[in-house]
Amino acid sequence: MSDTILILNGPNLNLLGLREPHIYGHETLADVEARCRSLATSLGLEIAFHQSNAEHQLIDWIHAYRIDAAGIVINPGAFTHTSIAILDALNACEVPIVECHISNVHRREDFRHHSYVSLAATAVMAGFGIHGYELAVRHIAYLRGAR
Ligand code: DQA
Repeated sequence: MSDTILILNGPNLNLLGLREPHIYGHETLADVEARCRSLATSLGLEIAFHQSNAEHQLIDWIHAYRIDAAGIVINPGAFTHTSIAILDALNACEVPIVECHISNVHRREDFRHHSYVSLAATAVMAGFGIHGYELAVRHIAYLRGAR
């Protein structure tokens, strides 16, 4: 069983810390990566951490890890609400998938209330801020111990 957790970030998350900080906070994606790496190391796991604004790139990363990963943490950004292609890629995965949103999408505009990705997700997190990524990593470590 692989020791690597794939952490994927979709469009506009490269601007984390700069973009709408009243919603997403002041910490950057590099801060998220550092926190996840440090936690993963303490749990005896590794992290592959990526961000792209391109749907096809996210799908290619999902394909690369769909069997050989401890699990996938994905914040698909706005693709959450639009992308059947990302849903199909996640449905082809044989590892646990945690969908992770920094904000509480259910408290926001109606169009953010529906997620295609949730149809493939093992678990869904929303509104934990960037701490949600660490909780997701912990959950995958927990599931890995149970597998
Ligand atoms: C988000 C919520 C999405 O609705 C939005 O499009 C994002 C970020 C979140 O992390 O809260 O880009 O996924």
